Amino acid sequence: MTGVSQPGNHAELGVYNDAERLAGAAAELFVSLCAPAIEVRGRFRVALSGGSTPRRVYELLATEEFSRRVDWKGVDFFWGDERYVAGEDRESNYRMTAEALLRHIPVPADNVHRVRTEISPPAAAASAYEIELHQSFQHASSIPQFDLIFLGLGTNGHTASLFPNSPALGEHSRLVVADLVTEVNMWRITMTGPLLNRGRAVAFLVEGKPKAEVLREVLLGPNDPLRLPAQLIAPEGRLLWMLDEAAASLLPDAERRRSA
Ligand code: 6PG
Repeated sequence: MTGVSQPGNHAELGVYNDAERLAGAAAELFVSLCAPAIEVRGRFRVALSGGSTPRRVYELLATEEFSRRVDWKGVDFFWGDERYVAGEDRESNYRMTAEALLRHIPVPADNVHRVRTEISPPAAAASAYEIELHQSFQHASSIPQFDLIFLGLGTNGHTASLFPNSPALGEHSRLVVADLVTEVNMWRITMTGPLLNRGRAVAFLVEGKPKAEVLREVLLGPNDPLRLPAQLIAPEGRLLWMLDEAAASLLPDAERRRSA
């Protein structure tokens, strides 16, 4: 992986021939980080992304090739963001993950920490999620540290449910907030910068030509997280940009290296 110029980050960038190879590399990343985390800390805690890009990653993790390499009873699943809809709603990130992965692996139900969107109002659902985070991590430190966080990138530069000009972008104490996102006319529950930036490994998964322009702006343009929230992500640990050729197509050759 080659480094990418980003203020204050030693980002790792990988460009994969196509979306399938990108998904395979992301599934491999999950597996490669899981065993060491369980060995050292007894748990592998991952925050999943929603949307369409990561679905294939989750499907691959459910296949025998990957699943047999994971000690699922040691894995704790969280979501970096959730739509404020019922868990069985077609828009639900939890539902997408359950269909692609959770129903196909022997992960204990207690290890699946979905956002309880049945709690009302949305702010109470966000607070309940933050409490569940602290309880699950049993951490002395104030901000739990995920072993792996998958993130996506919207064509407007949003990530998780941190949208341009959102008050959530300026949040410095709460780890999970609710935000009425006018762009999608929906309440969203989202992890905030302080929690996401504690991650030991934060991997953006970005595919497709429609993301090429915003990706170039995020990686190489002026730093303006209010306009491009993905620029807020500057984790303590590893920052990986995992791209397919189409998404990376507007990056200068110097910034990219084709991976397998
Ligand atoms: C969500 C995601 C969101 C997503 C981007 C990219 O709830 O929708 O968490 O941040 O990652 O919108 O979505 P696609 O992968 O569908 O392009």
